[in-house]
Amino acid sequence: MGSIGRKAILKSLASLKRKYQPDLTIINAENLAHGKGITEKTIQEMIDSGVDFFTSGNHIYSKPEFEKVFADPSINIIAPANDPRTPINKGYQEVKIGKKSLIMLNLLGKTFIDEENIECPFKKFNQLYSVFRKMNPDHIIIDFHAEATSEKVALGHYVDGKVSALLGTHTHIQTNDAQILPKGTIYITDVGMVGAKDSVIGVDKKINIDKFVNDSKILFDIPKTGISIINAVLLEINEKKSKIKLIKEEIKI
Ligand SMILES: [Fe+2]
Repeated sequence: MGSIGRKAILKSLASLKRKYQPDLTIINAENLAHGKGITEKTIQEMIDSGVDFFTSGNHIYSKPEFEKVFADPSINIIAPANDPRTPINKGYQEVKIGKKSLIMLNLLGKTFIDEENIECPFKKFNQLYSVFRKMNPDHIIIDFHAEATSEKVALGHYVDGKVSALLGTHTHIQTNDAQILPKGTIYITDVGMVGAKDSVIGVDKKINIDKFVNDSKILFDIPKTGISIINAVLLEINEKKSKIKLIKEEIKI
């Protein structure tokens, strides 16, 4: 979330990767560039700091530079497959990890999401799952970018047993419900964010409070210094018993 979040990644990702040795490092990039959207520079900063793959959400199209990033075949980035603004080849992507193949899928929720013409994420999953079955990947991971906890839990159960993990994003608040669903899918309602701790979901708290108290027009600003929280999850995907571990750290910027 903004420069404070990017600096937290720059300072901490290398040591997190040394500690946990992940095969693939994924971040949701939709708030990279001053909290809304992406730029070539901010994406490159994340690649240089060790990020392998980018998912996104409803703010990904906020800055026009998304077109340049999407046009670069060397950047692994996807956007919600059920958002009509998403190019046809950008809703999901297959990646190879050693001999294994993984499909990353991005979906956007409909409940309390202020975007137009979003297709039903449940129906979109069904449609794409029949495509994925022909591709025969070893694993599928979904970033479900949604506001309502009920919609996220419902989609988690809907895809249980069909995908390796469904990870919620968008609320910026890490939830305490990481679990393995009955048919084996890893699930969490929200992974949380990397961004300013002393804030309202990463945004300047005074501006946000004023919005609620005085119905003020939204001025958008992000604290540039202070403590950044680092929320993440570590997944261990295994045919017999998968695991999920919450990561919650803080760093001074
Ligand atoms: Fe979002």
